[in-house]
Amino acid sequence: MPDYQTLEHDVLVIGAGGAGLRAAIEASAAGVSVGMICKSLLGKAHTVMAEGGIAAALANVDDRDSWRVHFADTMRGGQYVNNWRMAELHAKEAPDRVRELEAWGACFDRTPDGRILQRNFGGHRYPRLAHVGDRTGLEMIRTLQDHGIHQGIDVHMEHTVLTLLKDGERVVGVFAYDRERGRFKIFRAKAVVMATGGIGRAYKITSNSWECTGDGLALAYDAGAELIDMEFVQFHPTGMVWPPSVCGILVTEGVRGEGGILTNKEGKRFMFGSIPDNYKSQTADNEEEGWRYCQGDKQARRPPELLTRDHVARCIVREIKEGRGSPHGGVFLDIAWIKSRVPNGEEHIKKKLPSMYHQFKQLAGVDITREAMEVGPTTHYMMGGIHVNADTQMSGVSGLFAAGECASGINGANRLGGNSLSDLLVFGKRAGEYAAKYAKESKSSAVNMAQVEAAERSALEPFERASGSADGPYQVQQELQELMQNLVGIVRQEDEMVCALDGLAKLWKRAAQVKVYGHREYNPGWHTAIDLHNLLTVSEGITRAAIERKESRGAHFREDFQNKDDALGKLNITVRKAADGTMRVDRKSIPDMPSELKQVIEEMK
Ligand code: FUM
Repeated sequence: MPDYQTLEHDVLVIGAGGAGLRAAIEASAAGVSVGMICKSLLGKAHTVMAEGGIAAALANVDDRDSWRVHFADTMRGGQYVNNWRMAELHAKEAPDRVRELEAWGACFDRTPDGRILQRNFGGHRYPRLAHVGDRTGLEMIRTLQDHGIHQGIDVHMEHTVLTLLKDGERVVGVFAYDRERGRFKIFRAKAVVMATGGIGRAYKITSNSWECTGDGLALAYDAGAELIDMEFVQFHPTGMVWPPSVCGILVTEGVRGEGGILTNKEGKRFMFGSIPDNYKSQTADNEEEGWRYCQGDKQARRPPELLTRDHVARCIVREIKEGRGSPHGGVFLDIAWIKSRVPNGEEHIKKKLPSMYHQFKQLAGVDITREAMEVGPTTHYMMGGIHVNADTQMSGVSGLFAAGECASGINGANRLGGNSLSDLLVFGKRAGEYAAKYAKESKSSAVNMAQVEAAERSALEPFERASGSADGPYQVQQELQELMQNLVGIVRQEDEMVCALDGLAKLWKRAAQVKVYGHREYNPGWHTAIDLHNLLTVSEGITRAAIERKESRGAHFREDFQNKDDALGKLNITVRKAADGTMRVDRKSIPDMPSELKQVIEEMK
């Protein structure tokens, strides 16, 4: 039997983005030993791609804001299939989590009287996003990392988890390998917190970095956890489209929050013609009013560029499809126009959006203080994921917790921008707290060595296959990304998705045959071969759930069922691994909302 290095922690956190760091801090503060595994280097997390701010009803800029308005906005944005208890906890607890982050050293932008400044974002009724220029996620990671590092957390960088280890029905650790040297390791733990982020790399055009291959979702699914809301994938309306090497990189919604407008090649602000009925009373129908809103006029209504992401992304796709797009297949996003409205316009734009200024200058040769940007939708965020208990964040598998993007529920069919950062603070803290409590009440369990050896054999198989006709891992990965982009993207229909399922079945077979050359040290081809299982699992989950939801709701738009179906609005779609290894799709009723919360929603209407 091989001699594996074995490490032991009470709580093991997988993922070192905002949710993972916040969970690790909380668990450590509860007095248990904490280990944290990151796929990449500490500090390199998709959290940094939430640039424009953290949504929390601090009411610093508009005193009409409160947790009740935030709750109602989140539910409406998610089109009422959200887990209402998570949305309630999130809205109530986000302000404290932001103030705590400030106390730990986050340097937020300030109001003239020294409070945390908040900006407008899509779907939020009032200016609600606490921000640090357009680098909020980065500042959050820096702060949590600095704080966490003094809590005695053991960090295991550049490790990939291959499987969750179970003793009976309980998770008791993970089997992983270090990506530099390819050495296998056993991590024993009394509780595991999954905080691995999203699935963006299942698509060709994405704001997500290479790590985001749906690992947490697939690991939990393989361990018997239920996934929900997999059909809801968020396509952020504004990613870069040119040059090709940077296609998909995020252009923060903060640009629109600061007054940026979307135009087509005819110079028309096309969003004015596309305001959905349920947002009409709150949306400006003329340019002047929209601008006054951006300037903080409390009587003005928000510009249509600040409608929810699902809607704005579809309007952009429509402009492009109907031949009114920009030269490189996007539309125009113009912030330079505000120079005619604000003193020192150029400096103002650079101060509010420093990263966007540098990003476009350096990557595209575009000066955003003088020219419009070219932008188009990019796969940004996964609303679906591991089904968790709203209060404790424990999944259906004992000892397995989840927080942040890989967990599901709070966002429903569409997430409002900025809710991700507050989500990962609120639920990261809760996951850490309850995982520590669980660990304190649990005994260590034995590791099942047969499970470890099977995972090792499976990980090494790609080296052992005969060379010849087999695919390389990159070929399969690229075809998968193209398939998902083309057949299960922003606009969906049954026949294309059935075709996608057929394509996925073929890709599963090819993935099981990929050949990898060389050895285990520093071998990115091998890492990619290992990622394929996770990418295929989440892609199949997305496709099956999207076929099952025969309506259009939030980010899930069906060309063949363009309206909402009230019956489906009371359900979540779930996927689970059946005993024979196939994926089982079910429908689950959303529990009835308590009358106090119903009343909050009614009042806000
Ligand atoms: O546009 C943005 O800055 C992204 C924010 C988010 O996804 O929450």
